[in-house]
Amino acid sequence: MDFITYEVEGQVGIITINRPKALNALNSKVLEELDATLEAVDQDAIRCLILTGAGEKSFVAGADIGEMSTLTKAEGEAFGKKGNDIFRKLETFPLPVIAAINGFALGGGCELSMSCDIRICSDNAVFGQPEVGLGITPGFGGTQRLARLVSPGMAKQLIYTARNIKADEAYRIGLVNAVYTQEELLPAAKKMAAGIAKNAPIAVRNCKKAINEGLQVDMDQAIVIEEKLFGDCFETHDQKEGMGAFLEKRKEKTFTNN
Ligand code: CAA
Repeated sequence: MDFITYEVEGQVGIITINRPKALNALNSKVLEELDATLEAVDQDAIRCLILTGAGEKSFVAGADIGEMSTLTKAEGEAFGKKGNDIFRKLETFPLPVIAAINGFALGGGCELSMSCDIRICSDNAVFGQPEVGLGITPGFGGTQRLARLVSPGMAKQLIYTARNIKADEAYRIGLVNAVYTQEELLPAAKKMAAGIAKNAPIAVRNCKKAINEGLQVDMDQAIVIEEKLFGDCFETHDQKEGMGAFLEKRKEKTFTNN
């Protein structure tokens, strides 16, 4: 891999977009490597992923403008599909993913963070969808996920004006859950990931599925999705272990992902 590093710390996998000379901009190679990294994650051993950017300045400063500059309409559409397919894979990845946003999250960078389950950022983070200033629309899910995550009105304002916002405003509009100093960000992400990893993996994965899939349908269908995923947890080792520990007043629990 030239542009992605993947490290494992206990039950947590840390994916770092590593192209700092271009502020971690997403060219085709970075996207392909991200795809390959996700494919290679050991889903039996890993219980939570963290996604971050290399260097102190940028999470991801967008899709690669140089690469996009000469695309035809058909190639532009194909590039959008390439990004969308990988970001959708991330969004629907069975494991929870925390975006630790350590600087610029512009265009495709903001869109990448929105494909993660949870977003936390450092106080130097900058968010925005600058695409209309480049003569294009957001192309890796920004028009869809920003409108769902904040509100249609706020998403339209940010996208139409191409205005960047700082971490405190991103927090205020609900784009990120918390803001840390640069030094605190990764430790905070790791602490949160460890807190997730200690819980029953099948249950956590089913929660992700229930929330994601339930948000796409009406409430009558959504609660049926929940019922099925709730039922799916029963008879597992981890359900017996979790409830057994409570009933036996036992603090230690061993979840085995079975
Ligand atoms: N694509 C390609 N290269 C990029 C890049 C991008 N998105 N963002 C930064 N870089 C490169 C710069 O070209 C520069 O390279 P050189 O040193 O070879 O000139 C290097 O990274 C450092 O960047 P700057 O010198 O510009 O750094 P700065 O601190 O002065 O500015 C910045 C930082 C404000 C983030 C500025 O780099 C910038 O505006 N970048 C572009 C942001 C952007 O418009 N992103 C959206 C892209 S479109 C998109 O993402 C479409 C989509 O939805 C899929």
